[in-house]
Amino acid sequence: MKIAVVGTGYVGLVAGACLADLGNEVICVDVDEKKIAALRQGKIPIYEPGLEELVAKNAREKRIFFTVDSAKAIRESRIIFIAVGTPQGKDGSADLKHVFQVAETIGRNANEPKIVVDKSTVPVGTSRKVRELIMKHSKHNVEVVSNPEFLREGSAVRDFMEPDRVVIGATSEEAGKAIYDLYRPLECGILVTTPESAELIKYASNAFLATKISFINEIANLSELVGADINEVAKGMGLDVRIGKHFLNAGCGYGGSCFPKDVQAIQKIAKDKNYPLEIVEATEKVNARQKLVPVQKLNKEFSSLKGKKIVLLGLAFKPNTDDMREASSIEIANALVKQGAAVVAVDPIARENAKKILKGIAYSDSVYEAAKGADAIVLVTEWNEFLELDFEKIAKEMKSKIIVDGRNVYDREKLISLGFKYYGIGR
Ligand SMILES: NC(=O)c1ccc[n+]([C@@H]2O[C@H](COP(=O)([O-])OP(=O)(O)OC[C@H]3O[C@@H](n4cnc5c(N)ncnc54)[C@H](O)[C@@H]3O)[C@@H](O)[C@H]2O)c1
Repeated sequence: MKIAVVGTGYVGLVAGACLADLGNEVICVDVDEKKIAALRQGKIPIYEPGLEELVAKNAREKRIFFTVDSAKAIRESRIIFIAVGTPQGKDGSADLKHVFQVAETIGRNANEPKIVVDKSTVPVGTSRKVRELIMKHSKHNVEVVSNPEFLREGSAVRDFMEPDRVVIGATSEEAGKAIYDLYRPLECGILVTTPESAELIKYASNAFLATKISFINEIANLSELVGADINEVAKGMGLDVRIGKHFLNAGCGYGGSCFPKDVQAIQKIAKDKNYPLEIVEATEKVNARQKLVPVQKLNKEFSSLKGKKIVLLGLAFKPNTDDMREASSIEIANALVKQGAAVVAVDPIARENAKKILKGIAYSDSVYEAAKGADAIVLVTEWNEFLELDFEKIAKEMKSKIIVDGRNVYDREKLISLGFKYYGIGR
């Protein structure tokens, strides 16, 4: 099948590479000329495990191509995926300008019947609007199918190839079947539904996961007050299959390119119907507060942070990605800098993206170097390389042995035995 994927970011590039690997001929389109030039030379603009190899393999086997010429890509493809960004607009709603731009381009260039697949996360009703817009300009019938994406950055290739489910929202049976057939080789559960339900499934799923995180963070804060250990509490809760063990890790809040904006967008969708989503509102409020919990712990420890050297371990919003969007590290670093602390950050991948966002902090390649003369270490992102550190060595380097474990990953007793003062989240 000849496929165009418009938007070559985290979702579009992964979807394009995976669809090519399934045997399709895929042309990936982006307006960013630098990105396309780099991709043509085999350079991957984002960090995503396994992606570089997958793109290289399919480029070699002539199944994946890159272009800025969207008109040509549209004319040459039977199926066109829209995977452009839908950032948060001023009022919290998803900004659809990129999606509508692509829709118009498709309408103007459709030279035969086409199927458009909307993979971007969009408010309920957008698929129908996209079709109306396309049909305003097109002489040929173009069907639009909603196909929200659930991949997670850091494991995006695996998530695409081995999804828990695929959701297809279609009004045309023929178009729905064509997209169903595209995913059939993945041998996963495929739900075919209406575009409205498909669009809401995406937002409701992300709002639910964000709520699960904020819920466990609230219970973590309560655990501290009553002398319980959140790791034990979460374990005990998660053994109940109705609750499940995933997404019950207490920590310093969620970030990323999806949860924060999708939590806002679903509230806007509901508000437009005069139905405030009170649980989701609370989720957001709790998360904003939770991001600053590590700073509050440092404030408890030191009467002033002025001149204190604080080492941040991890900047990316989660491990295995270079994505800094809405990362907890931003709030934490800004608060520390504002209080006059000397912040040194270590992150294996996200440093270059962090530099564009964070002001007034220093960087180090080595935890052990950074620890020299440090007053405290704060773990923000639980990268694998931070899990098995030599804390005996670190203890010798630090001025005061304070550790704030923002993701509850360290062995508290071991650290205490090495002379550290340990602060976790909810334990
Ligand atoms: N990142 C994730 O983990 C994730 C997961 C599931 C769903 N989503 C959703 O998928 C969509 C894309 O997200 P992303 O993280 O891949 O975004 P991104 O910002 O990484 O990439 C978007 C790409 O679209 C390009 N673009 C913008 N306008 C264009 C146009 N008119 N023509 C061609 N290209 C254009 C941009 O240059 C950019 O490269 C969003 O709606 C997002 O909510 C993202």
